[in-house]
Amino acid sequence: MPIRPAGRTAGGRRVSRGLSANTISTKMRNIVIFGAPGSGKGTQSDKLIKKYGFKHISTGDVLRNEIKNGTELGKTTKGYIDEGKLIPDDLMVSILASVYDSFGKDHEGVIFDGFPRTIPQAEALKNMLAERGHKVAAMIELDVPEEELMKRLLRRGQIEGRSDDNEETIKKRLNVYHTQTAPLIEWYEKEGIRHHIKGDGELERIFADVCAVVDSL
Ligand code: AP5
Ligand code: MG
Repeated sequence: MPIRPAGRTAGGRRVSRGLSANTISTKMRNIVIFGAPGSGKGTQSDKLIKKYGFKHISTGDVLRNEIKNGTELGKTTKGYIDEGKLIPDDLMVSILASVYDSFGKDHEGVIFDGFPRTIPQAEALKNMLAERGHKVAAMIELDVPEEELMKRLLRRGQIEGRSDDNEETIKKRLNVYHTQTAPLIEWYEKEGIRHHIKGDGELERIFADVCAVVDSL
């Protein structure tokens, strides 16, 4: 009988918890899904959750929920979102840590969607996870041309009516992305965990590319 690491099949592939009663995965895969506004972070996250059973933190969804419920946090953050600006790092980091801890310790990993968006946030995430004995296993970058981003977001604005999906705010969000968020590409490259994916084109092809990264972890 060949010896192989726990949680792996004969082909070396990792087996997720729940697929087999005898193979329990002990390897947590925390994944940062990264990209400009409209690049498909939420879309690909939803598919990953269904396929792998990951937990999911979308900082944008968390904030929109607070706004919808009229909480103090929602009142503080609404102005930033409607202006296409980032919420201050310290506030964002404390929200993130509390959502992360709410998942407990027994899960397959968390998808971070829309976080980090600045280098201080990336450093804070690294430290927060290290304090818990965890880490980010991969940063998956969805790379989409700007005209396509604009097209997608304007279309979504018409369908869903998100308050920041209008041309003026989209331009501001893209500008914030280029100045404050894009430097993270190099930051994660230096960490040795950046994976670049062509994020325009057929949804299932993009998802297959994303899954290939996840399966390699
Ligand atoms: P957030 O909600 O994260 O918005 P975002 O980054 O601007 O990204 P979106 O959610 O608009 O796009 P997405 O990449 O998820 O794409 P999606 O899958 O929806 O943040 C909103 C605001 O909150 C920020 O501006 C900021 O103010 C604040 N905030 C959030 N996080 C923060 C942080 N960490 N720090 C500070 N402030 C923070 O796809 C877009 C559309 O395209 C959809 O309609 C989808 O159906 C479609 N689509 C997806 N894939 C394809 C495809 N392959 N082909 C055609 N259409 C596609
Ligand atoms: Mg999103």
